Amino acid sequence: MAQSQGQRHFPLPEAEAPTHWYNIQADLPVPAPPVLHPGTKQPIGPDDLAPLFPMPLILQEVSQERYIEIPQPVQDVYRIWRPSPLIRATFFEKALGTTAKIFYKYEGVSPAGSHKPNTAVPQAYYNKESGTKKIITETGAGQWGSSLAFAGQHFGIEVEVYQVRASYDQKPYRRAYMETMGTKCYASPSDRTEIGKSILEKDPKSPGSLGIAISEAVECAAGVEENKYALGSVLNHVLMHQTVTGQEAIKQMQMAGEYPDVLVGCTGGGSNFAGLCFPFIGQKFRGEASKPFRVVACEPASCPSLTKGKYAYDFGDTGQMTPLIKSHTLGHTFMPPPTHAGGLRYHAMAPLISHLQEIGELEAIALHQTECFEMGELFAKTEGILPAPEANHAIAAAVREAKKPENAGKVILFNLCGHGHFDMTAWQAYSSGTLKDYDYPEAEVAMALSGIPPVPDN
Ligand SMILES: Cc1ncc(COP(=O)(O)O)c(C=O)c1O
Repeated sequence: MAQSQGQRHFPLPEAEAPTHWYNIQADLPVPAPPVLHPGTKQPIGPDDLAPLFPMPLILQEVSQERYIEIPQPVQDVYRIWRPSPLIRATFFEKALGTTAKIFYKYEGVSPAGSHKPNTAVPQAYYNKESGTKKIITETGAGQWGSSLAFAGQHFGIEVEVYQVRASYDQKPYRRAYMETMGTKCYASPSDRTEIGKSILEKDPKSPGSLGIAISEAVECAAGVEENKYALGSVLNHVLMHQTVTGQEAIKQMQMAGEYPDVLVGCTGGGSNFAGLCFPFIGQKFRGEASKPFRVVACEPASCPSLTKGKYAYDFGDTGQMTPLIKSHTLGHTFMPPPTHAGGLRYHAMAPLISHLQEIGELEAIALHQTECFEMGELFAKTEGILPAPEANHAIAAAVREAKKPENAGKVILFNLCGHGHFDMTAWQAYSSGTLKDYDYPEAEVAMALSGIPPVPDN
């Protein structure tokens, strides 16, 4: 379709929605390192993961197939909000005074308000098909917990959520959303688990972390056969479910008559970033990209796993219950400062994203939250969407790109991964001038890194 001058919105018809997820593992020039068993330090097999996940998801985790079909019941639920909008931010461009063309893929139109339902729906579906009675999980921003609450309700499975204490206190309406969907929600650390009790014993006021909440959820799920655990980011299958976003964006950029010079996403565990970027990176690996492009991952300066972490095998949780993943890690005991971007407060990065950084396929930057909120505010004032604090990081990184002289006239595409309607405590803190930046906690990271397990590769 020819580009119409001034067109802002590039709506993809439902009939053009992706029917398959894209698995970047099929196209990697160098395979990613395997996940290791914490006891034997040998690569894990599907049976090792069976107490935690249903087999269809385990098989997706290790699959090398380029495309995996999206089951029809999942496609049907996706159609509540997908294809999601791709919009050119012309008012924002004007306010910035940039000649760069800034596009955003808007995932805030989903039921929970972010990209997280893209994986919650298939995870709930496969659990239902496999006979799971209850799914137990953690949530940082509350977005993932809300998404699984919605998906569990849709497929008729009980959901239990451990919500990181800082987020539980800051976002009572996230909890109310989950409870309305029939989900039970507990503040983490809690006194319901051994790991929770041990953390509270040392620090009764602990703000919690994703690493701790994961341990609590895993502890509860692993103990009962018909319960399973679900993770909202980091794992290969989760990143793969998110690729509906990038596949749609490729078609929508074609409708706009453009191809990105720079792709931007914020990174907590890495899933929204992967969702947008992996299908483009796959095109590059297969020699099908329309032109060379750069990929920028943006993380909080207070929790900078990609920019300051060590590339090593580490646990995915504080309580050392998960397998060992090779990732950029700040150490599994690292407790990030209680910034408002709760979804970005995770000590490690997805193995696939860490691997792509190691092989030079992406750039990473770390930003302070006040810069992110300033740019998020400008975006809200010009484009009318109040972003989630996590998404503010992507906006700020896109602005930095737009301001670079070499990007004059270039095309920047970022993932506006969620709205901030449940994040008004954060926005109020910003408006009242009480939002503060946290320095990189070097000494604490050094201490946490000294605790990573002794694996030969480390
Ligand atoms: C709106 C939003 N963006 C980003 C993230 C970070 O997660 P990921 O890196 O997996 O996209 C979260 C996590 O909860 C989130 O809620």
